[in-house]
Amino acid sequence: MAFLLKNAHVVDPVAGLDGVLDVALEGEKITAVGEGLEAPADAEVVDLTGKYLVPGLVDMHVHLRDPGQEYKEDIKSGTRAAAKGGFTGVCSMPNTDPCTDNGIVVQYIKTRAAEVGHCRVYPSGACTRGLKGEALAEMGDMVARGAVAFTDDGRGIQDAGMMRRVMDYGIMFGKVFMSHCQDAGLVGEGQVNEGVVSTRLGMLGWPAEGEELQIQRDIALARLTGAKLHIQHITTKRGLDMVRAAKAEGLPVTCEVTPHHLFLTEDDIDATYPTALKVNPPLRTAEDAAALLEGVIDGSVDAIVTDHAPHAEWEKAREFAFAPFGMTGIETSLGLVLTNLVETGKISVARMVELMSVAPRRILGVEAASITAGATADITVFDPAQEWDVTEDGFESKAKNSGFIGAHLTGRATDVFVGGEPTLRNGAIC
Ligand code: DOR
Ligand code: ZN
Repeated sequence: MAFLLKNAHVVDPVAGLDGVLDVALEGEKITAVGEGLEAPADAEVVDLTGKYLVPGLVDMHVHLRDPGQEYKEDIKSGTRAAAKGGFTGVCSMPNTDPCTDNGIVVQYIKTRAAEVGHCRVYPSGACTRGLKGEALAEMGDMVARGAVAFTDDGRGIQDAGMMRRVMDYGIMFGKVFMSHCQDAGLVGEGQVNEGVVSTRLGMLGWPAEGEELQIQRDIALARLTGAKLHIQHITTKRGLDMVRAAKAEGLPVTCEVTPHHLFLTEDDIDATYPTALKVNPPLRTAEDAAALLEGVIDGSVDAIVTDHAPHAEWEKAREFAFAPFGMTGIETSLGLVLTNLVETGKISVARMVELMSVAPRRILGVEAASITAGATADITVFDPAQEWDVTEDGFESKAKNSGFIGAHLTGRATDVFVGGEPTLRNGAIC
């Protein structure tokens, strides 16, 4: 297939592009980037006037639920949702059933994604068997079959000695260790951030320290072992300051934030007990959200991810304390970032590309996407002016547990190419 994408506003901070250009694709590759390009023979010409064209976005924190919980999501529906959201790739989390803690499950995910996927799937593998924190997972076998990172996401590894062994052993594979920081003893059955809101609602609190203790511990262990550490879904001001200090020290430490921890706070959890807002880690204070925003702007936050966590309607329909943690996010992430950060002038499109494409790919160690001749054609196109409402019936995901139902957003992906193949054309899945 060949395409000539004309008159797009191309933004690629790595290649240093920020202007209206044409981009030609042939097969898997970008063949030319420039002004007034001639269409190659048989190329389909697509006019992208008014739209942005950027290196393909990657969401490095996604729960595809496959194998084992396909009633919530599966590789087909989850990657369709990714394409709809403007992503060319996702990193899948290992809390599947069976757990992604061995090579066979990694191979299943890769094979299934190749068969039915609508984006690239970069599987992460568990650090410990069954995410139990007791024995090492089959790290080498998983890497040999395509795992790009290690994480026990959904749980913190409780024992510091175990976390050290994970790093000491796993470091030979050169992959990043992604840490879900949660001290089980401190967090206990906590439901929402510990403070005024938990008291008012009469729910068990989840203190900020339940996250910060493990952030500090894992930074110390990264210093001890030399391992590359990535702090997942960071939510507190002090936690972010710890990451800043680690970076200043020159340690290989990075972190990510989610749109829900940036754009929602504990104050959004009212007396209707909205289970869509029950997430792990919990929505924090307005002060924390403001600090995360500051980090997104000043570069302390490396990546924006969704922690897309689909659940069935009946699961989220239960009482708050019985509902599972998590919200979907992959279809609203780009629109939320464009609406709240880019439209408002808080960050540039180039910074958005760093947060949602460049850094996730660099941290995961997967192929960089670039709008240059010879590069693989992983491309996201979005219309910055398209207005739309987030509604329950508008999702490609099997799940509807978004915390942003009813939001009015400006900016949406219209076209996505993965290795030169369209997965989204004019807002419709291919
Ligand atoms: O809210 C969350 N849901 N956070 C996690 O870390 C796990 C996820 C899930 O698997 O549902
Ligand atoms: Zn997590």
